[in-house]
Amino acid sequence: EDAADRPARLLAWYDRHRRALPWRAAAGEHVDPYRVWLSEVMLQQTTVRAVGPYFEKFVSRWPDVTALGRASLDDVLRMWAGLGYYSRARNLHACAVAVMGDHSGVFPDTEDGLRALPGIGPYTAAAIAAIAFDRRTMPVDGNIERVVSRLYAIEEALPQAKPLIKEMAATLLGPSRAGDENSRAGDSAQALMDLGATICTPKKPACALCPLNDDCAARTRGDQETFPRKAPK
Ligand code: ADE
Repeated sequence: EDAADRPARLLAWYDRHRRALPWRAAAGEHVDPYRVWLSEVMLQQTTVRAVGPYFEKFVSRWPDVTALGRASLDDVLRMWAGLGYYSRARNLHACAVAVMGDHSGVFPDTEDGLRALPGIGPYTAAAIAAIAFDRRTMPVDGNIERVVSRLYAIEEALPQAKPLIKEMAATLLGPSRAGDENSRAGDSAQALMDLGATICTPKKPACALCPLNDDCAARTRGDQETFPRKAPK
């Protein structure tokens, strides 16, 4: 198969196998930037499984960013208890206050605008821009690093390889449509996240089930588990 249709094969796989996660809208439904932001901040250092119940508690108590911004920091910290890395909760509250005060309660819809908010680094800005606003950018987390470094058998070690991995990851977004930058970027990103979490796992990847197996360089060589390369400590 042809490298040019990797983006289409990835999306076709996602349409059949996407995980139903509480912050994901049903296919074709409107995604709420508030829910995407909240989930991405919670997922920064915590697993999908652990985040689920906290995400539900937060959105039922504070259904939108203005409600969260009006809450007391103490209440937010109490609700966060157990998730760890409490600076995330402080930044979460500060971010809600900033969106309310500086952006009339509406999340900025660009990567740069998001990046300027408390607690939103390069990864989280790209994730929200892609998932909530379909901006053509690819957030690169640990799962995506593994998928991409295997697909292209990237020999350069982490962390030096990050810019190259980011560049190669972006090729999986597919071509932009004429006059319209939207291209299901958020689905492409979440497809790679799901692929890394469920198929392209660190140990014993289930390559037979992978939509990109035909042209995976590491699989061709049979040394999938050796990617991503890591610099000796
Ligand atoms: N990890 C971080 N963001 C995620 C998302 N949107 N879906 C699944 N796993 C994730």
